[in-house]
Amino acid sequence: MTPRTETLQATTADIDRAARLLRAGALVAFPTETVYGLGADARQADAVAKIYAAKNRPPMNPLIVHVPNAEIAQEYVRWSDIAQQLADAFWPGPLTLVLPLHSKHGLSSRVTAKLTTLAIRVPAHHVAQALLRKFDGPLAAPSANPSGKISTTTADHVLAGLSGRIDAVIDGGACTVGLESTIISVASGPPALLRAGGVSIEAIERLLSIKLQTAEDGKIIAPGQLASHYAPRAPVRLNALAKKPHEVHLGFGPIEGDLNLSAMGDLTQAAAALFAALRQLDGHAKPIAVAPIPDEGLGRAINDRLRRAAAPRDTH
Ligand code: TXA
Ligand code: MG
Repeated sequence: MTPRTETLQATTADIDRAARLLRAGALVAFPTETVYGLGADARQADAVAKIYAAKNRPPMNPLIVHVPNAEIAQEYVRWSDIAQQLADAFWPGPLTLVLPLHSKHGLSSRVTAKLTTLAIRVPAHHVAQALLRKFDGPLAAPSANPSGKISTTTADHVLAGLSGRIDAVIDGGACTVGLESTIISVASGPPALLRAGGVSIEAIERLLSIKLQTAEDGKIIAPGQLASHYAPRAPVRLNALAKKPHEVHLGFGPIEGDLNLSAMGDLTQAAAALFAALRQLDGHAKPIAVAPIPDEGLGRAINDRLRRAAAPRDTH
């Protein structure tokens, strides 16, 4: 394992260094607008293997490949009209598309966990964009956290979970979206929602004029969508209008709590604050009660993360 993790800044010189490290097969965490990603060269099998080792990630859970734009995405996946429509509307941004792998993709089979599809995304964050352009290749990057734990939205949170297990992290400040990308499969059949995230489901349904298929339809497979995920050490209780005496309370809107995701009840603000708030409250080593969050717009993705944070841990 790597003994020491370097902290790099969002400067041209440090981004050059990060790109060199990645070319040499190292692991570099970097900011995206959603969460920090743990990057490796998606063409180098050994580098990709290090991602799984550093995160303690089950090998059957495939990775998202990051590229700087939709044209380059088409070197790795078989494109379609619907992919173009979604890319035009939401790229660069917090949307991942699952598409059939291109026959000449050149990626390590560890990235796709041997599936015939690939999850691909164009991040909007200026540091991610600068790094992708400098590196000039496909970056495999899961969220930069130990598998099953809370995702990271600052460089310090990355180091708290992965220091000494990765080569470097680029400090690009706090992520603005705060939840992972929405994942839509357009690989076969009608578009399907694999994970709620930073682009609202309603916005996608409006654009495509369809209702997305979801896991409740019973046909959808997203290998990484385990019931327990984003787990703080403390147990989590949902839809709590008030806390019990031994709990700490995460509030929303008028339900004040010990810490409030958004006093004005704004879901975008709440999404950006969620993972850092769970970490902060977890520091109290008391059960965490969470106020109800409206199940609309980004609230659907927030509730998805909270349900997994509250799920029994023995499934993981
Ligand atoms: O916002 C994000 O998406 C962040 C940033 C770093 O880009 N990345 C991220 O990656 O959340 P990760 O690995 O934590 O979550 C990726 C999810 C997993 O649930 C994985 O199973 C699923 O995407 N996935 C990857 N490839 C897939 C594929 N070919 N088919 C279906 N699901 C796939
Ligand atoms: Mg993750």
